[in-house]
Amino acid sequence: MKTLFINVKELVQVRDSSVRKISGENMRELPILRNAFLLIENQQIQDFGLMSDLPDLNVDQKIDATGKIILPSWCDSHTHLVFATTREEEFVDRINGLTYEEIASKGGGILNSAKKLQNCSEDELYEAAVLRLKEVIMLGTGAIEIKSGYGLSVNDELKMLRIIKRLKQYFSIPIKATFLGAHAFPKVFKENRQGYIDLIIKKMLPKITEENLADYIDVFCEKGYFTPTETDRILYAGKTHGLLPKVHVNQFNAIGGIAICIKNNALSVDHLEVIGDEDVEFLKDSDTMPVALPSCSFFLGIPYTDGKKIIANGLPLALASDFNPGSSPSGNMNFVVSLACIKMKLTPEEAVNAATINGAYAMGLSDQLGSITKGKLANLIMTKEITSYRFIPYNFGSQCIDKIFVKGQEIFE
Ligand code: NIG
Ligand code: FE
Repeated sequence: MKTLFINVKELVQVRDSSVRKISGENMRELPILRNAFLLIENQQIQDFGLMSDLPDLNVDQKIDATGKIILPSWCDSHTHLVFATTREEEFVDRINGLTYEEIASKGGGILNSAKKLQNCSEDELYEAAVLRLKEVIMLGTGAIEIKSGYGLSVNDELKMLRIIKRLKQYFSIPIKATFLGAHAFPKVFKENRQGYIDLIIKKMLPKITEENLADYIDVFCEKGYFTPTETDRILYAGKTHGLLPKVHVNQFNAIGGIAICIKNNALSVDHLEVIGDEDVEFLKDSDTMPVALPSCSFFLGIPYTDGKKIIANGLPLALASDFNPGSSPSGNMNFVVSLACIKMKLTPEEAVNAATINGAYAMGLSDQLGSITKGKLANLIMTKEITSYRFIPYNFGSQCIDKIFVKGQEIFE
């Protein structure tokens, strides 16, 4: 099946196949072809160029994109979209003045979600996750990472990861699974932290490897959750099972977690709402992708990650949604890109680079996705008729997507 897009007003994020991530001042550049064609064959990008250079082609389908913009789909490298129920009661508590930490310490937060998930069947959870995933795909997400972490027992963590495995089989977008057994200490282990860490390392990890249920390992490294020393132990164990780290770190406090992540060759460090100069120095010596989650900052009313500082130091930056019921109940990457521009002061070019190619890198997919590159998967967003790609972040809260393509096929629901 050959599909040809013609008269594309702007073909955005056109890159050579050698580019895996964009760093520092290069993030201000977003390569674009104006008045372009794009040819898709066998699910992949086969060719593209200026309309003036369009060769004579025999195709099965021709799509006129006059006035419209085509860009690679969003690559959302950090979500928790398998969960049981939403948490509006905590939302109201926060409106009334409680903090995320205070809500967690009175039994809300992650443990609240875990209790609810433990009481749901695998099928119920799967059906709810399917609906959420369909929704974000229609919002332009063309690759996604999904974490466990609301199970917090051997059976329930495995249940979550099996659901993610089913999602991988059902959906045609690439999905990566991250094991986050170290999301919080279950109540029964409150006085026996070693006991829970042993459970993760000795019971959960071997089963996960046996069933090939995860690609990555994550820990919530934070005061009141997992210390840097505990994080080190868990990440190291994950690595011995072939799982690279992608870590929740520096959300509320800088407690030395970033150095530990880098020591363990983390693929990404995520959150970073609090980031010190020494953390930036550690990142400079690494291949680790810093990931900002601005819709979490928006929803919790906490500081935004200082993405400008990260980029000014020559580092790359990715953006992700953190879709979860507690701190970011939206997986809308269009809104994430808007927030990055409006609140983090990224330029639209920086934000699009962060939400496409760098997002792909943060889940080990930048050889397949994240740019308009020959041979990459044809996961694409085609907008309505708009002025330029800058309209996408500018027009926050509205929908400027016309059509979504996954592996070259238009998606309708
Ligand atoms: O990324 N910070 C830790 N984990 C999630 C929130 C989880 C929850 O509140 O349910 C986050 O923000
Ligand atoms: Fe998260």
